[in-house]
Amino acid sequence: MSRLDSFIRRLEAQRACLNHAASLIRGLDGEVLELGLGNGRTYDHLRELLADRTIWVCERRVAAHPDCVPPAELLLLGDMRQTLPNARSRLADRVALAHLDPATGDTVAGKALAAELGPLIVPLLRPHGVVVSEPALVTDGLAPLALPEGVEPGRYNLYRRVSCRSPA
Ligand SMILES: C[S@@+](CC[C@H](N)C(=O)[O-])C[C@H]1O[C@@H](n2cnc3c(N)ncnc32)[C@H](O)[C@@H]1O
Repeated sequence: MSRLDSFIRRLEAQRACLNHAASLIRGLDGEVLELGLGNGRTYDHLRELLADRTIWVCERRVAAHPDCVPPAELLLLGDMRQTLPNARSRLADRVALAHLDPATGDTVAGKALAAELGPLIVPLLRPHGVVVSEPALVTDGLAPLALPEGVEPGRYNLYRRVSCRSPA
């Protein structure tokens, strides 16, 4: 497959998973967390899909399209490895949908970052909250969900927060 085809499939998978996740949280109150603003394309899509939700954004350095810059009060500016723990007092157990797209372009670095971020994202999620992510996340408290039709396994990933306490 050409790199162009692969890129297009990634974007199609990303959109399909975001659309599906939005429908999965329909009955679940809570806020939205965009992890990696980039150009602001997926932030803009989430704004359209979930117009009545508050969308928080984590980004190291804002360089988005001018129409897609989040309000300053909803921007967690800095490295997510620091801003996520700092956001716990405001966001613990409040996020219904998180989308992680740090896209390092380097598989090894992406996996290492995902291993660090997974345990920082879970405490912010509402019970049954949903995570849409690429790279994959392997962390206590997240169970994989079925992907929407047409999305190949591994191209994008969906999870739900489950209890990580063992039964009494
Ligand atoms: C691929 S872009 C996101 C693209 C976005 N989803 C879109 O559709 O336009 C990844 C973004 O994540 C940010 N990022 C990556 N690692 C980060 C980290 N550790 N902390 C904060 N931001 C990070 C980068 O600065 C970059 O802007």
